[in-house]
Amino acid sequence: MRPVPALLLIGTLAVAAHAAHGARSLAVGTAHPAAVKEMFLDFVQRYDKEYVNDEVEMAYRMGVFAENLVAIEESNAMNTFYSEVNEFADETWDEFSARLSHPQADCSATLSEEHELLHHHHPESQDWREKGVVSPVKNQGNCGSCWTFSTTGALEAAYALEFGSILSLSEQQLIDCAQAFDNHGCSGGLPSHAFEYVRYNGGLDLEVAYPYKAKNGTECHYRPDAAAVFVKDVVNITEGDEKMLKDAVGNIKPVSVAFEVVSDFRFYKNGTYTSSECRKGPSTVNHAVLAVGYHKDHYWIIKNSWGKDWGMDGYFRMGPIGENMCGVATCSSFPVLDEPPKEKKVQTS
Ligand SMILES: *[C@@H]1O[C@H](CO)[C@@H](O)[C@H](O)[C@H]1NC(C)=O
Ligand SMILES: *[C@@H]1O[C@H](CO)[C@@H](O)[C@H](O)[C@H]1NC(C)=O
Ligand SMILES: *[C@@H]1O[C@H](CO)[C@@H](O)[C@H](O)[C@H]1NC(C)=O
Repeated sequence: MRPVPALLLIGTLAVAAHAAHGARSLAVGTAHPAAVKEMFLDFVQRYDKEYVNDEVEMAYRMGVFAENLVAIEESNAMNTFYSEVNEFADETWDEFSARLSHPQADCSATLSEEHELLHHHHPESQDWREKGVVSPVKNQGNCGSCWTFSTTGALEAAYALEFGSILSLSEQQLIDCAQAFDNHGCSGGLPSHAFEYVRYNGGLDLEVAYPYKAKNGTECHYRPDAAAVFVKDVVNITEGDEKMLKDAVGNIKPVSVAFEVVSDFRFYKNGTYTSSECRKGPSTVNHAVLAVGYHKDHYWIIKNSWGKDWGMDGYFRMGPIGENMCGVATCSSFPVLDEPPKEKKVQTS
């Protein structure tokens, strides 16, 4: 048996209220309780939270919100990056991280057999968004499917680089159909294994043909006629080799990466995220995303899958480069595309 290398993911957007937990007192931050209440009511409205008519749940959520406000203030006082209230602000870290359902994830098998693909000079800085090849930010919702978004993001960018148009690919197909490659739907998976699945399967459908549901499906509905992207090869970056990762992102294309999300990451807004708390190991990375660029040795530019409202229009910066911050170079890979079969010319708009 191969070890299960599931990359376990943070699902997000727990908009539905959990069972009531009993009221808690408000944590004392610098904000006055009346101000906290006002901010909480704005928050409820802004994110369309659904517990508005349940007073016990509402009081509990306001207590959690107040504690998160304090954590955000402390983080802003201490860190060089900036944090802000977002839609996760009524959830405890335990609730948020409970979606990391396989904490012993292991992707240590990451090895590169393709050194020759990588050049050894790279531009000082790179940002593939400026070249128009990065597709819009998506939102995984309440499902540990970050690995599918990292995968489609990488394939969409690779497609745009090769064929000149942006398309949107199906995450749900990966959730429903890629289990044989050690992937677990809403309970995690690995981009490198998803690329292998697409190669083996012979294609990945368009999003419109196989739309996202943010939950495990009961069966695979792959439609060969709607397949738009074909994978010829999968390249792993050598574990921990951040220089090679930079060569790949700098010279070749956006690369799927993973890292360890710790509690202060959820409220990131802007600046360069850095942490002394997160680890770097192959069994501690818990969130898959897409590296779309870097700025000198200062930071990676990374596309997340928590919607456009989160972070910097859905993106974050993490650095410095050279320390394998949070394991960003521990588990990375990218796909090499095949030409679509002749009879399968894809209509894109
Ligand atoms: C690539 O890495 C994955 C784990 O991340 C591993 O399962 C796979 O065997 C590796 N592929 C190669 C060709 O080394
Ligand atoms: C989703 O399905 C996978 C198998 O594909 C299973 O391992 C996992 O436990 C399921 N997760 C949830 C949240 O149902
Ligand atoms: C970060 O976001 C805050 C609030 O949205 C804003 O005031 C600040 O100017 C931003 N800083 C940077 C560097 O973008």
